[in-house]
Amino acid sequence: MLDVRSVSVAFGGLRALRSVEVAIADREIVGLLGPNGSGKTTLFNVVSGLVRPAAGEVWFGGVRITGLAPWKIARLGIGRTFQIARPFPRMSVFDNVLAGVTFGARPASRRIDRAREVDRLLATVGLAEKASARASTLSLGETKRLELAIALSTRPTLLLLDELASGLSPKGREEVIRFYARLRERGLTIFAIEHSLAVLNEVSDRVLLLDQGAVVAEGPPRAVFASRELRAAYLGDE
Ligand SMILES: Nc1ncnc2c1ncn2[C@@H]1O[C@H](COP(=O)(O)OP(=O)(O)OP(=O)(O)O)[C@@H](O)[C@H]1O
Ligand SMILES: [Mg+2]
Repeated sequence: MLDVRSVSVAFGGLRALRSVEVAIADREIVGLLGPNGSGKTTLFNVVSGLVRPAAGEVWFGGVRITGLAPWKIARLGIGRTFQIARPFPRMSVFDNVLAGVTFGARPASRRIDRAREVDRLLATVGLAEKASARASTLSLGETKRLELAIALSTRPTLLLLDELASGLSPKGREEVIRFYARLRERGLTIFAIEHSLAVLNEVSDRVLLLDQGAVVAEGPPRAVFASRELRAAYLGDE
């Protein structure tokens, strides 16, 4: 479904991604792990069209999407959340999601149907009671759930989730794990950056480890967690 082929990104002299290869199959949940600054968000930015790679290509469902505008990539079916959630702060929770539903792919033509879709999405992420609250009044956990609803509002088939569980309480993390299960039941394909090994172990079929812009390990969560590469990435080479 997603095929990242030998993608490299440079910011001035900094090599943020080095010949990164990623292949994700339909309905797979793949975790992305790596120390701060290893290039995880940059990889998501390349896939969603916010950063143009210096080399390499990205294919999605048989279509070459490298260099397409972000909104075109979103309409092809890739949704994402941002590490720092950024809904429109002065708009209500409902209107934030309505904006996504209205401008995403295949919006329902009748307003009542779009409103129903928003209600359904807010129920999915457990924010139905906050529908009329201003986005700026939400807690961190609620803001992340709103981001998730916005990401789902364009009806993606592939979701890129950037640290959904980070900064949450243990209870919040449990909830996030349940969201992953629910999204899997809906048949979504997910590429997820998480720092918590417990969360990754619970939700992902496979994990990729990035270190200084390169994929250095890949496999079942437990195998990657126990790898020499993981120790080297986080503790430095002995
Ligand atoms: N737009 C940009 N311009 C210049 N440098 C950038 C830009 N975006 C990212 N970088 C740099 O590229 C490297 C990779 O950053 P990136 O945000 O992808 O890391 P990350 O793995 O997501 O880290 P974190 O775990 O802290 O979120 C870092 O050194 C970062 O400072
Ligand atoms: Mg990041």
